[in-house]
Amino acid sequence: MSTHGAPQRRSLGDLAALKARGEPIVMVTAYDHPGARVAEAAGVDVVLVGDSAAMTVLGYDSTVPVTVDEMIMLTRAARRGLSTPLLVADLPFGSYEASDEQAVATALRFAKETGCDAVKVERGGATVDRARAIVRAGVPVVGHVGLTPQTAVALGGYRAQGRTAEDARGVRDDALALQDAGCVAIVFEAIPAEVTEAIMPVMRVPVIGIGAGAATDGQVLVFHDLLGLGEGPQARFVRRYADLRADMIAGVAAYAADVRERRYPASEHTYAMRPGEADRLGEVLGE
Ligand code: KIV
Repeated sequence: MSTHGAPQRRSLGDLAALKARGEPIVMVTAYDHPGARVAEAAGVDVVLVGDSAAMTVLGYDSTVPVTVDEMIMLTRAARRGLSTPLLVADLPFGSYEASDEQAVATALRFAKETGCDAVKVERGGATVDRARAIVRAGVPVVGHVGLTPQTAVALGGYRAQGRTAEDARGVRDDALALQDAGCVAIVFEAIPAEVTEAIMPVMRVPVIGIGAGAATDGQVLVFHDLLGLGEGPQARFVRRYADLRADMIAGVAAYAADVRERRYPASEHTYAMRPGEADRLGEVLGE
């Protein structure tokens, strides 16, 4: 991965090599330049500009409304912050499902305008054809099976998938179809651990899990979830590594109190005129 200690930009081949060596792949979402800089500094392998941005940073109540233009702006900001990790961008709902032509046009727009290394699409079914078409057009594709938030309503809500043996077969079939379509990696979301364990032996491409147990080739978490930046209940699979929202509220509240109590700004935050200029000020302003 690196020569002479300096981290080098990851390639898709590096992901396959990590899988082959049995070394876990680390993926995290980011949606802007500071988030990408944090991911870069933390040494993750892959940054996903997920359409979870719809909820984490854009204030929508699901991933459905986020647009191509919004995702492109966020992905470009993340790109400018990254030099080492791979960058994957989610194609938003409604931007690739209708036809191969639509899928290829959207994927090419992401590749040309954002500099992402791959695009991600959700579900099996018709998405398998879309994924194959995008791969043929020269843009690497990551698949996503199990709980697919773009179609959570059709799945009966944000709930684990593959909890019966028949449903588990459906998850496996979707994953295999996406793999055969040429996907370079597949995200498994909210799948029982024993289902993941049963599917992994047939997966030749790296599998990145989120709520899919420990048997996958890597893990992904949403930046805002793992850092405690969000509000409200967390999914079962989230482990919180920091409580930044509380720290941020405390910081802004302390600032507000200092302004109101006239403790801020202090002399060290204040500019001074050049020597001797203050003495002439009254005269000059009085002109
Ligand atoms: O949009 C997203 O953040 C995702 C991850 C949860 C995999 O798709």
